[in-house]
Amino acid sequence: MSQTMREDLLLSEEARAAILAVGRDFAAGRSAVIPALHVAQEDQGGWLPAEAIDEVSALLSLPATYVGAVASFYTLFNRQPVGRHRIYVCTNISCSLLGAEQIVDVLSSRLGIRPGETTPDGLFSLFEAECLGACGTAPAMQVDDRYYENLTEAAIDDILEALRGGE
Ligand code: FES
Repeated sequence: MSQTMREDLLLSEEARAAILAVGRDFAAGRSAVIPALHVAQEDQGGWLPAEAIDEVSALLSLPATYVGAVASFYTLFNRQPVGRHRIYVCTNISCSLLGAEQIVDVLSSRLGIRPGETTPDGLFSLFEAECLGACGTAPAMQVDDRYYENLTEAAIDDILEALRGGE
């Protein structure tokens, strides 16, 4: 690939190689879309610009409209810039019964933002999410690629302090 062509690309060489590998790992091309979009989103700092979706579709030889529709359907894919740390609080039934709304309220209060917003310093974005598959240890949330379960108000404060400290 020439340098001129490389300058037109948004995704890093590493992300492009990882997406091609994902495409090879999945016999049915469309099954590769979600893992490939995760790679692209991570590469782009937590969100998916339209150009990144176009590159994923080209790498997987799939229609851009299909890849774009998948990216828009799932709440774990962000179509707008987000904070350095993305906090997803599950508000589905098990978590809701065990206080997920209070967890969202505590996070909103501590961060000064509502779900769907990003702190002015760009450090945190807060979201409500569907079931994270941790129903047995509800309430649960995902921060970036890490899960936190059996959440309490005190645990939230510890987690935010650690994240602010760079952990
Ligand atoms: Fe929250 Fe399943 S309902 S993890």
